[in-house]
Amino acid sequence: MDEQRISSVLQEERTFAPSREFSERALISSSKSLAKLAKSAEQDVVTFWEERAKELAWFKPWKKAFTWKHPHAQWFVGGSTNLSMNCLDRHLADARRNKAAIIWEGEHGEQRTLTYHQLHREVCKASNMLRSLGVVAGDVVAIYMGMVPEAAIAMLACARIGAVHNVIFGGFSSAALRERMNDSKAKVLITQDGAIRRGETSGLKAAADEALLKCKSVKHVVVLRHSGDSVAMKARRDVWWHERMETVTAECEPESLSSEHPLFILYTSGSTGKPKGILHTTGGYMTQVAYTSKVVFDLHDEDVYFCTADIGWITGHSYVVYGPLLNGATIVMYEGAPNWPDAGRFWDIIERHGVTIFYTAPTAIRSFMKWGDQWPRDYDLSSLRLLGTVGEPINPEAWMWYHTVIGGERCPIVDTWWQTETGAIMISPVPGATVTKPGTATKPLPGIQIDVVRKDGTSCKPNEGGLLVVKHPWPSMLRTVYGDDKRYVETYWSEFPQSKSHPGWYFTGDGARKDTSGNIWIIGRVDDVVNVSGHRLGTAEIESALVSHPAVAEAAVVARPDTVKGQALVAFVTVKATHARADTKKLAALLREHVAREIGQIARPDDIHFAEALPKTRSGKIMRRLLREIVTGAVATGDTTTLEDAAVLERLR
Ligand code: WTA
Repeated sequence: MDEQRISSVLQEERTFAPSREFSERALISSSKSLAKLAKSAEQDVVTFWEERAKELAWFKPWKKAFTWKHPHAQWFVGGSTNLSMNCLDRHLADARRNKAAIIWEGEHGEQRTLTYHQLHREVCKASNMLRSLGVVAGDVVAIYMGMVPEAAIAMLACARIGAVHNVIFGGFSSAALRERMNDSKAKVLITQDGAIRRGETSGLKAAADEALLKCKSVKHVVVLRHSGDSVAMKARRDVWWHERMETVTAECEPESLSSEHPLFILYTSGSTGKPKGILHTTGGYMTQVAYTSKVVFDLHDEDVYFCTADIGWITGHSYVVYGPLLNGATIVMYEGAPNWPDAGRFWDIIERHGVTIFYTAPTAIRSFMKWGDQWPRDYDLSSLRLLGTVGEPINPEAWMWYHTVIGGERCPIVDTWWQTETGAIMISPVPGATVTKPGTATKPLPGIQIDVVRKDGTSCKPNEGGLLVVKHPWPSMLRTVYGDDKRYVETYWSEFPQSKSHPGWYFTGDGARKDTSGNIWIIGRVDDVVNVSGHRLGTAEIESALVSHPAVAEAAVVARPDTVKGQALVAFVTVKATHARADTKKLAALLREHVAREIGQIARPDDIHFAEALPKTRSGKIMRRLLREIVTGAVATGDTTTLEDAAVLERLR
């Protein structure tokens, strides 16, 4: 990253205020009450979070709410609690006992509902099952499963006995699974025979067997029977979930764990090197995840909440499982693909279960747009009252489509900015209070101190692009990179180290700008920033401009070296089905003009390549690094284990 400022060029003027009906019944119902809350948090951030923590149950109160030894924070020190108790036991004393906690739907259409009472029983049994295999507090348990209720049960069971879960996305290969089990020294692995997606079964147990060939730490494997495919069971090592669960009781007191007890490790890939094991701990994570779920999703007891993220990602951890359950909410959990058996599946789920809150990713929204409006239009989506997005900047055009076609122009959209490392939402509208603009996550939540700064640490002027930093430690922040504290310090805390004027700032790796009203516009990762004729441009903004053209479904922009401009812009574009037969030469010229019009000549792509598909991670992020390697002729050297479909890359080459 160099000293030059990041030029931010996207301008968006449309604004959307929540309706009176929405605000009237919202938990935070006006911009005034939000401002008041934000102000009190600003004056005393630690007390603000203490008050939030007090809304949860603790075995022992904390002695000190916050300690800081650069760059290591502790929250609610001396306190002890249990996350599983807060998600489950706490709700058993009132009417929530018989409320649906999880409504699960398999890809084949089968359905299961677990009430809080039933979920509690299953979690207690699973905890005892883990104990019967020798698992004790502090041990790491790997979870390699699809979207089945048992994945959530396994996580909650670990939390109940103080085991540290390491969920590995079920779409990962055996090599990726092995690397993550070895790095975390997992003692037990929980998996299933096969996971079902898009009408096919992927053999998780078979992949696990291969991974385990070179993994010494794992002593036992618990196998859930789900797809019914036959699997090899290794004597003394492997046990069936259903058999073990029959041998244990449903009584298991939650362990009293210190607030800083490790809760989970979740691996996330950096742009180079091996994946980082992000470590989260108990009390602070619980507090911020509970609070953000409540205020960002405005959770009421009658809501039916559907987050489409996989449990293998941080969103699945914080906003499929823990956050909603901490608030006693009803979760819809869906096993399969959004376009199985057809592109109407999500809308069908929303109609049948009466979903009120829907949380998904921009990449999914762009797919829905590509598949066409007729799919959602065929279903009754009138139960929806709130929409959310996460994972990357949402293009204003996709935002408008979401707002109109899915939200019926009535649902506020919460564009939530956060990271695996932050554990919980950091920047987001509060739906009953915030006036939103398509493309901005708006402002930091109360209790979160975020700024856009220059390389020298001074704050940027309005609309001046810079680096996004967090200026005060927050409860759900990562505590370290598992087994590599040096990498933790270097990656996140070396850009803005402790100084006379401040205690050290967390660098997010994102570029951003603040507009004149203080809304934050994420420009993208700083390594997705290109430099054309001395202007640093966020590729996300150019992509946004491309996607705003009616012919374009998706776009990714990278740079190649150019002797005159420094860097030239190369766009990879996929075209909507309706424009499949367009003359590509003409279309390329049109798109160049379009971008020049939307952003300016400076952003006009030099080359446009039409592609059938773009290389993406399994969580849907476009892997620009690989595209960069293609256009610069470099050999692909980095990690490609997170690539969803390797064939896409081959075709692009
Ligand atoms: C990006 C996902 C713009 C950002 C929870 C961040 C976003 C990275 C948004 C973290 C958003 C996430 N607007 N960009 N609303 N949400 N990002 O760890 O670049 O998978 O740093 O966590 O995604 O990705 P991660």
